[in-house]
Amino acid sequence: MIEKPIGFFDSGIGGLTVLKEVSSVLPEENTLYLGDTARVPYGIRSAETVIRYSLENTDFLVSKGIKLLVVACNTASAVSLEEIKKRLHVPVIGVIEPGSRAAVRATRNKKIGVVGTETTINSSAYSRTIREMASSIEVFGLPCPLFVPLVEEGFTDDEVAEMVAERYLKGLREKGIDTLVLGCTHYPLLKGVISRLMGDGIVLIDSAKETALEIRDTLVRDGMLSGTSMEPSRMFFVTDAPERFVRVGERFLGNKIEHIQKINIGGSICGLTAERTTS
Ligand code: DGL
Repeated sequence: MIEKPIGFFDSGIGGLTVLKEVSSVLPEENTLYLGDTARVPYGIRSAETVIRYSLENTDFLVSKGIKLLVVACNTASAVSLEEIKKRLHVPVIGVIEPGSRAAVRATRNKKIGVVGTETTINSSAYSRTIREMASSIEVFGLPCPLFVPLVEEGFTDDEVAEMVAERYLKGLREKGIDTLVLGCTHYPLLKGVISRLMGDGIVLIDSAKETALEIRDTLVRDGMLSGTSMEPSRMFFVTDAPERFVRVGERFLGNKIEHIQKINIGGSICGLTAERTTS
């Protein structure tokens, strides 16, 4: 019997932070990961465009026979989760709800900060979700667009990262928050700098970790856990530049990226156009 995989998509490399957590919580599950590297970044695009891209990514993964879909991108989760759920028969898990739940659990003074891309913050998805869970909580959203390229360049724990983070986070510190949601796939890699600047008392919420636990709970609840103890298969698809994806992505994943294919997506799905296997 072939075990159906869990499908993940992200605008590019960032969702690998979610895949990394899932691989550690559910090491026996087969996975398919699609990084839409031809159209990244999503975080500066309109909701309408991100929804279109997200539905095309979903179509591709569904055509591969996935058992559960993870929208591993905060921006895509923020604006397109409902549209995707309406169309799918398999469970769909985004990163906003698990991250929000963890933040609501963590806050003591009912003041939560959320950092993310412009599109995520403008959508108010985190503040809406948090306030639906606990209406007395105050939420302060802050876009930090430069964090994405910084992390991809590997500037995660040096004076450049510190300067940029200080500039963004100064205002948020003054709000007196006690919990900060890292509402973008890339931001967990800046945890060290962010936590130093925000101070010891602040709890940082990593949506990737929380999402992995929610995926496990859903598979257990629906009786869909992998029944094999064989080595899982980990397939990667990108819409552009597989070499860069492998080079930068291995840092995000903390593991080798093998079995990667470049595909075309957009309008109609044109199928596989190239195959490249790295070792
Ligand atoms: N993956 C995106 C997110 O989590 C960040 C990169 C982008 O803007 O596409 O919001």
